[in-house]
Amino acid sequence: MNSIANGTEPLRVAVLGSGKGSNCQSIFDAIDAQQLNVRVVCVASDVEDAFILQRAAEHKIPAQFISALPFKTKLDGKAEEAYIAYMRSHGAQVVALAGFMRIIKPGLLAAFPRAVINIHPSLLPAFPGLEAWKQALDYGVKVTGCTVHFVDAGMDTGPVIVQKSVPVLDDDTPQTLHARIQVQEHIAYPEALSVIAARAIRIDGRKVLIAG
Ligand code: GRF
Repeated sequence: MNSIANGTEPLRVAVLGSGKGSNCQSIFDAIDAQQLNVRVVCVASDVEDAFILQRAAEHKIPAQFISALPFKTKLDGKAEEAYIAYMRSHGAQVVALAGFMRIIKPGLLAAFPRAVINIHPSLLPAFPGLEAWKQALDYGVKVTGCTVHFVDAGMDTGPVIVQKSVPVLDDDTPQTLHARIQVQEHIAYPEALSVIAARAIRIDGRKVLIAG
């Protein structure tokens, strides 16, 4: 695997998000509680008024809106270059997608090889794509959850780092189920980052092996 941190120096992480940033907040909270050997070096969003930018600014972390236009659903072309340049200028080693609502293309993956991670609100490979909690409810599964995974060229297909399960209740609505999944997301994301920061993982094909 790539050496992305030496185990003692904090892992330098860039966070990308499009929305309210509760997962980014869970990373800040774990760092503040000294449970995570990570430094969030910068935050960027493709949505100008996304709350994730405000959270970062409150933490005195460089935070920037970077337009991803003219594309609607992907990060590509000049916009992709701008994101890469911004994250590199802050010395990011790992890119953590936290509700970033765009498809990541090969250019960014090549700039940060095996170092782009994402959180998805289902137990992958079930329910990739949008509104996974709603997909789970519509399908009628009894258990769903969340997954932190490496990002590859596919849609929510990369090697799995951490998963947490969440029961689906008979009276769940999309909102109640998503809220319960998010509670687990806020545990899973810091956990995944902590094993990466500790250099405790090895990727063997599709398997992410965690030492200890
Ligand atoms: C989370 O449910 C995450 O799994 C999905 O987008 C949502 C982001 O939430 N990828 P937040 O902005 O971190 O609160």
